[in-house]
Amino acid sequence: MATLPATVPSSDLDPFAPEFTHDPFEGYRQWRDLGRAVRLSAHDTWVLPGYEDVRAALADDTTFSTARGTGLLEESHTSSVISSDRQRHPVLRSVLSSKTSPRAMAALRDDIFAQVDALVADAVDRGSIDAVGDIAEVIPVSVVADLIGLPDDDREPLLPGADVVNRLFGPLTPELAARLSGAGAYFEWMAAKCDRSILRPDSWGSAILDAVDDGLIARDEGVWLMNGYLVAGMDTTVNALSSLLHLFATQPETWERIVADPSLAAGAFEEIVRLESPIQGFFRVTTRDVDYDDVVLPAGERVLLSFGSANRDERHFVDADAFRPERRPIDHVGFGFGAHGCAGQALARLESAALMTSLLKRVDRFEPTGEPVRRSHPIVRGISSLPVRLHAR
Ligand code: HEM
Repeated sequence: MATLPATVPSSDLDPFAPEFTHDPFEGYRQWRDLGRAVRLSAHDTWVLPGYEDVRAALADDTTFSTARGTGLLEESHTSSVISSDRQRHPVLRSVLSSKTSPRAMAALRDDIFAQVDALVADAVDRGSIDAVGDIAEVIPVSVVADLIGLPDDDREPLLPGADVVNRLFGPLTPELAARLSGAGAYFEWMAAKCDRSILRPDSWGSAILDAVDDGLIARDEGVWLMNGYLVAGMDTTVNALSSLLHLFATQPETWERIVADPSLAAGAFEEIVRLESPIQGFFRVTTRDVDYDDVVLPAGERVLLSFGSANRDERHFVDADAFRPERRPIDHVGFGFGAHGCAGQALARLESAALMTSLLKRVDRFEPTGEPVRRSHPIVRGISSLPVRLHAR
């Protein structure tokens, strides 16, 4: 008897639609139940929803290439570190590797802890705050802009710029089209800052300009590199911290558990990055056919690596939807994995450690004073407003 042609699992869920991104987890479960590689009819593309397959794809950047961009739409310009090809990527990544090393992070520790503690002390004194605007957004903007070497009084375009740049990884909706001029203005502003007369000597930005002057990278690669670290270092951490604060404000018993056992603080951050996945997914393009049981993902296809779904895969994480800080899931893919794995994860952990240390020292309990607002974004998951009163310890 002739074998029937395999049926390709297909889903009409649109992973970028606001009604999906608001609460994507049931949709992710459907994808995982459908198969290992699922066609997404809404965008004529594919998704890998399972943990093992996402992690294997991240580890194999020959088959799952970044060279045609890591968003839904093909990029015409791929000088950015995340969308560079296999030859250029190690060169771009090497430029700031000593600045992001464990030793470099250790040297930043006291300074970041002191800055964050002053911020939290002030928030406690004020009582009622928006924990997103007054804490979660302030820390990464100040830390990353200081490291890049931007002047103190010229940082306002950073958060709106990061928001729109991350939207460029999704579809060209009328909403995004309306924001494109804002994206252009942000790029112009940012490119103008990539200048020795503006950037602090010894900063990450100056190290990028040294690499340009030494002929290691081209000027436009330098500008894209600075943009890459600015955008990737800000919006991601803002949303991880906002999700963490949201959890403490809405689940007092979780906060009480961490107060009772502060050794859970580091695990709490990893768990929130796993559960909420501030970056829900990035794309790759296949360079050869890949077999998934009886389904073939053909060469030349754009495929979404769904970090958000992989991180909730119950075949890998026991009780995957539950927040369990004691599991310390260092194998989650919330920071990606492999060659393009997050270059700033040690810095993000440092910022979170600073925040947790200060909260544990100063805050007895979180009292919600209004409704939290979930952020509406095609790629980034987090909270945009969290009215809360911090009661002093
Ligand atoms: C909680 C905070 C953060 C999260 C959840 C996060 C997540 C990610 C993810 C998912 C990737 C992509 C992996 C891939 O497609 O293979 C990535 C890449 C990257 N991240 Fe982060 N990130 C965070 C913080 C930071 C910080 C603080 C910085 C730097 C200041 C940073 C810089 C980068 C860079 C430069 C890349 C591109 C790496 C490459 O292509 O080689 N990130 N991050």
